[in-house]
Amino acid sequence: MIAMFFKLLILALARLAAAEDVNFTYNGFRSANLSLDGGAQFTPNGLLMVTNDAEEQMGHAFYPNPVTFKNSYSNSNVISFSTTFVFAIRSVSATQGGHGIAFVIAPKRGLPGGFHSPFLGLFNLTNNGNPTNHVFAVELDTAQSTAFNDIDNNHVGIDINSLNSTDSASAAYYAKKNGGLRNLTLNSGKPMQLWVEYDGTNKQINVTLAPINVDKPHAPLISLNHDLAPILNKTMYVGFSSSTATVPTSHYILGWSFKMNGQAQELVLSQLPKLPRVGGKKISKLLTLGVPVIFVSLVLLAISGVIYAIRRKRKFAELLEDWEIEYGPQRFKYKELYIATKGFREKELLGRGGFGKVYKGILPHSKTEIAVKRISHESRQGMKEFVAEIVSIGRLRHRNLVQLLGYCRRKGELLLVYDYMPNGSLDKYLYNQPTATLNWGLRFKVIRGVASGLFYLHEEWEQVVVHRDVKASNVLLDRELNGRLGDFGLARLYDHGTDPQTTHIVGTLGYLDPELARSGKATTSTDVFSFGAFLLEVVCGRRPIETQGPLQGVILVDWVFSCWKKGDILEARDRKLGTEIISEEVELVLKLGLLCSHSEPSARPSMRQVVQYLESDNALPELSLLGQSYSGLTFVPQEGFDDFAQSYPSSSVKGFQMLSRRSSLRWSLTPRIRIILELIANAL
Ligand SMILES: *[C@@H]1O[C@H](CO)[C@@H](O)[C@H](O)[C@H]1NC(C)=O
Ligand SMILES: *[C@@H]1O[C@H](CO)[C@@H](O)[C@H](O)[C@H]1NC(C)=O
Ligand SMILES: *[C@@H]1O[C@H](CO)[C@@H](O)[C@H](O)[C@H]1NC(C)=O
Ligand SMILES: *[C@@H]1O[C@H](CO)[C@@H](O)[C@H](O)[C@H]1NC(C)=O
Ligand SMILES: *[C@@H]1O[C@H](CO)[C@@H](O)[C@H](O)[C@H]1NC(C)=O
Ligand SMILES: *[C@@H]1O[C@H](CO)[C@@H](O)[C@H](O)[C@H]1NC(C)=O
Ligand SMILES: *[C@@H]1O[C@H](CO)[C@@H](O)[C@H](O)[C@H]1NC(C)=O
Repeated sequence: MIAMFFKLLILALARLAAAEDVNFTYNGFRSANLSLDGGAQFTPNGLLMVTNDAEEQMGHAFYPNPVTFKNSYSNSNVISFSTTFVFAIRSVSATQGGHGIAFVIAPKRGLPGGFHSPFLGLFNLTNNGNPTNHVFAVELDTAQSTAFNDIDNNHVGIDINSLNSTDSASAAYYAKKNGGLRNLTLNSGKPMQLWVEYDGTNKQINVTLAPINVDKPHAPLISLNHDLAPILNKTMYVGFSSSTATVPTSHYILGWSFKMNGQAQELVLSQLPKLPRVGGKKISKLLTLGVPVIFVSLVLLAISGVIYAIRRKRKFAELLEDWEIEYGPQRFKYKELYIATKGFREKELLGRGGFGKVYKGILPHSKTEIAVKRISHESRQGMKEFVAEIVSIGRLRHRNLVQLLGYCRRKGELLLVYDYMPNGSLDKYLYNQPTATLNWGLRFKVIRGVASGLFYLHEEWEQVVVHRDVKASNVLLDRELNGRLGDFGLARLYDHGTDPQTTHIVGTLGYLDPELARSGKATTSTDVFSFGAFLLEVVCGRRPIETQGPLQGVILVDWVFSCWKKGDILEARDRKLGTEIISEEVELVLKLGLLCSHSEPSARPSMRQVVQYLESDNALPELSLLGQSYSGLTFVPQEGFDDFAQSYPSSSVKGFQMLSRRSSLRWSLTPRIRIILELIANAL
C-alpha cells in the first residue's frame, strides 16, 4: 500500500518535472533570442558566429532562460539531457587554428572571468580546475595546449571545471556499422555535427561527432561514466563559449537543438543557413580588381563601338540634299550598292568606260541583277539639273533602252544603277574576234532595235532626249541578244559641270557631228550622225577611225564612200560575215550609214525616216543624189584645211571637229593633213 503510494507520487512528480522540461530547436538563428556577449553575433542569414575574425577574442551565446537539471525533491540526481548542434570552424590559415569552441553548461550566462586563447572563454588561470566553477563543457579544440595536457590540436574533450579534459579524443567518427574510425579535421571549415547525451540513470556521458549529411554514428567518439550531480546546480544555463588566439578564426553554429529528459529533436539540415562562400575574401579581391578592369573594358568596348559606327557611317556616307527628296524612289542607298557589288570588288568589274567603272551587283533584298556605274565627279555645279535629268531619264521605258533604275550620290561621286545586261556591249562582238560571233540576222536585229530606241528618245517620249554618245560600245545586248542603247544623257554631265563660256564638247571621236563643234549644241541630228557611224561600224566590223593595225588612219566613212563610188558598196562589208548575208539589207544599211553621215545636218534623215527605211516601209532615196549633193553643195570649203581652220574662232575648233569634217572633204586629203589629224586624234 505504502509502496503503491510512493510509486504514484514519483509518477506525479515526474509528470510535474516533465511539464518544465526545456525543449528547443534552432534550425538557423534567424529569429532566435539568445544572450550574446563578446564577439558573438548573428549573421544576416541566421548563422550564430561565436567569434569572428578578430584576434584574441572570445564570445558567449547562451539560451536566455535557465534550464532545470535537477528535480526539486532530489539534489543528487541530474535529469538526462540531450543536445546536438552543427558547427563549422574556419580559419584564415589552413594549417593553424585557434582556439576552439565548447558546448557549456554553467551557473551564469556570461561565464564571468573567462579568458580568451587557450581558456576558450571558460576559465582563467586562477579558477582553472576549481571545483566551485560548476562548469561542464565539451570542447572542440583546434590548438594543442600542453599546459592543459591537450592530446593534439584537433580533439574533442569533456571538461569538468577544468580545461584539463577529463576525457578527450582526436576528432573522428565511426563510419556505418563496423566501418572503423575515420579522422576529421575540426578547422576544415566544413560543417560537422556533434551530439552530447547524458544518461541520468547510468551517469554516462556520450559525445558523438560526424560530418554533416552523415547519419549519427552508431557509436560515440567518447563515452564517459561520470556523475554530473556534484557539478551541476539545480538550474543552469546552456550555451556556447569560444575564443581565438593569434590566428583569426570564425566559429559558427548553424543549428542547435536541446532537450531535457529526452532525445533532442533532430536538426533539419536543409533549413540550416549557408556558410559564407569559401574564398569570399578572394572573390572580393577579384571584385576590387575585376570591377575596374571590367569597367575599363566596357569603356574601351563602347569607344571602339563608337569608332566602328563612325567609320561605318563614313564608309556608307552619302550626299543627300533637300532638292533630292522628291527623287526618293529613284535614290539608292550607298550601303545597298556596296553590299550588292561586294564592296565594289575588282572581280565584279564589268568594264571601264569614259565616265567611270561599271560593276555588276545583286541587290540584297530583291536579288535583282544590276550594273552600277561609278562616276567620279568633283563639281557640284549643275548637279541638280543633271540629277533631275537622270531621274527623268529613269522614267523612259523602251525595250531597246537599258533601263536606268536609279542613282546614288556621294561626295565626289555619282553612282548610276542600271539593269544588268548579261551579254555585254556590242563592240566586243565586232572587234578582236577571229570569226563572226554575230551573224547578219542578229546584226540587223540589233541595228533595227537601236534605231527604234533612238527614235523613241527623239520623238516618242514627252521630251526630246538627245543621246549624244551613240556608238557600238554603248549598245548592250540583253539575254535575247536585243540591242539596247545605254548611257544616254551622260555626256551632259560634263556640259553642266564646266564653264559655259568655253564650250566643251563631249562625244567619241569618229562619231561626232562636225556641226556640233561649230554650234556647240547637241541636236537629234548629231545623234543621227553618230548613228550613221554606228551603222557602218556594225556592217563593216571596223571602227570609224582605225587607230591601230594595218588600216591605221583609215576613216571608215571615206572608205565606204569610195567603195560606193567604185560601184561595189558591198565590198565594204565585214568579211567575217561570210556569204550568209542578205545583200539588199547590207546595201541598205551601208547606204543609210552614208546618208546619216552627211556633213549637212539638214540632209540627214530623221530617226523616224531611218526606222521607216530599215523596216522597208519607205525606199531609201537614191544615193546618187547624195553624191550629187556632195559635189554640188559646196558646204565643204574649197580653200583647204588651213583656211578652214582660220574661219572659226580657235577656241571652238577642236581636233575631232576637223576630223569629222574630213569625212565630208573630198575623200583625198594631203598626207600632211592626215598626219596632223592623227596627232590630234592621239592627243585626244
Ligand atoms: C519539443 O518541442 C517541439 C516544438 O517546439 C515539439 O514539436 C516536440 O514534440 C517537442 N519534443 C518533445 C519530446 O516534447
Ligand atoms: C529575449 O530573452 C530575454 C530573456 O528571456 C528577454 O528579456 C527578451 O525580452 C527576449 N527578447 C525577445 C526579442 O524575445
Ligand atoms: C577568474 O574568474 C573568477 C570568477 O570566475 C574571478 O573571480 C577572478 O577574478 C578571475 N581571475 C582573473 C585573474 O581574472
Ligand atoms: C593541468 O595539467 C597540467 C599539465 O599536466 C598541470 O600542470 C596542471 O596542474 C593541471 N591543472 C589542473 C587544474 O589539473
Ligand atoms: C587519425 O588521427 C590520428 C591522431 O591524429 C593519427 O594517429 C592517425 O594516423 C590518423 N589516421 C588517419 C587514417 O589519418
Ligand atoms: C552511450 O553509448 C553506449 C555505447 O554505444 C551506449 O550503450 C549507451 O546507451 C549510450 N548512452 C546514451 C545516453 O546514449
Ligand atoms: C551551486 O551549488 C553549490 C552547492 O551545491 C553552491 O554552493 C553554489 O553556490 C551554487 N552556485 C550557484 C551559482 O548557485
